[in-house]
Amino acid sequence: MESKKTRSTKLWAVQSSSFTGNNLAGTVAEASALLANGKLVAFPTETVYGLGADARNTGAVAGIFEAKGRPSDNPLIVHIANRSELDAFVAKVSEADEKLMAAFWPGPLTLVLPVRPGALSPKVTAGLDTVAVRMPDHPVALELIQASGCPLAAPSANRSGRPSPTLASHVWEDLNGRIDGIVDGGPAGVGVESTVVRTNAHSGATVLRPGGISVAELSQVLGAPVSQVSADHGADIDPETAAGDSAALIGLSRMDRSSELGDDSKEVIATDEAPRSPGMKYTHYAPSGQLEIVLGSEQHVEKEIGERLAAARARGEKTGVLVFDEHLAHYEKGPDVALSLGSKHDLREAAARLYAALRQFDELGTTYMLAEGCSEEGIGLAIMNRMSKAAGGRIHRV
Ligand code: TXA
Ligand code: MG
Repeated sequence: MESKKTRSTKLWAVQSSSFTGNNLAGTVAEASALLANGKLVAFPTETVYGLGADARNTGAVAGIFEAKGRPSDNPLIVHIANRSELDAFVAKVSEADEKLMAAFWPGPLTLVLPVRPGALSPKVTAGLDTVAVRMPDHPVALELIQASGCPLAAPSANRSGRPSPTLASHVWEDLNGRIDGIVDGGPAGVGVESTVVRTNAHSGATVLRPGGISVAELSQVLGAPVSQVSADHGADIDPETAAGDSAALIGLSRMDRSSELGDDSKEVIATDEAPRSPGMKYTHYAPSGQLEIVLGSEQHVEKEIGERLAAARARGEKTGVLVFDEHLAHYEKGPDVALSLGSKHDLREAAARLYAALRQFDELGTTYMLAEGCSEEGIGLAIMNRMSKAAGGRIHRV
């Protein structure tokens, strides 16, 4: 689905120091008027940049799919600014959903809820009887939603098959000429997309896509087991990045260990039909070069990466590494390109840097890249999930 560059894309800059100033008010007034008129505007959220359109307007929503080159059977997340906006298009909210909203909204949590028939464009839900909803924790996003008066359908603002954008310049690279505007609010915060969750009849929940809110945080609030969709059940449901082969699910299947999920997590999956992936068949983001992940103790990782780099250089590859700050010194002479994930003591930093680093490898033309893996604790689960998919499941455990 190749779309033409037929739109003129306006770029507004609002810097964080002036989020509350006139600069923001003027931008919000212009950008929200475009959205209310069925146009497409990208904006920052606390996870990644989103590409917004009025979720009730089928023409507008069709524009999102066209601009992104997104398959039409991949549903979109609807963004709201106030809890009261939900009832217009959601049929029922369970007690467990209420608890999660109270604890994590605004924030990087998306809830899959029963949709009120006819309230949204059917293109948003791709024909499902549920709708994914979240309230972003970003002043620009919240102001825009409120001023537009629309529930905003907003997938990540990348062309399908590219990493999600964490900077306005990433959106510009992918979508200039295909959308009507981009609000530049500086770097997005978390760096990986929201956690997508569906609660169940037992007051527990299933994580359909790991993200900024961890399994442990969810189960603490619910006081019930929270499971992770296993590889067998289809694992990640993000069709833009969904794994094409089971090898790519290694990271996820390991997350299914009952020790991490609570002892009866298997029962929850067994008694509840696990939510289906709408788009398992689509290929995930893969850099143009080959990415591999090395996971293990520091010494083993260093040795493995060193050996693989030497072999790659001997083959004539342009090589890259993506490693934690503390280990960059090991690779001063080795690779052509060395990028940092930040400190190994701060996985939030790694999440924030991951997608930009993957884009940088592409720009610099590396043909063989090695990334250091991390623990799957907290946000590490989302990092390993996205990284292993970018690597097509090539994980070396040493
Ligand atoms: O952090 C985020 O969630 C970002 C920002 C922009 O809000 N948005 C985002 O949207 O990542 P997108 O479209 O790239 O990913 C939406 C995910 C996909 O995995 C999609 O399959 C899933 O949500 N999804 C949407 N509606 C669903 C539904 N009714 N049931 C199950 N999964 C759904
Ligand atoms: Mg996406």
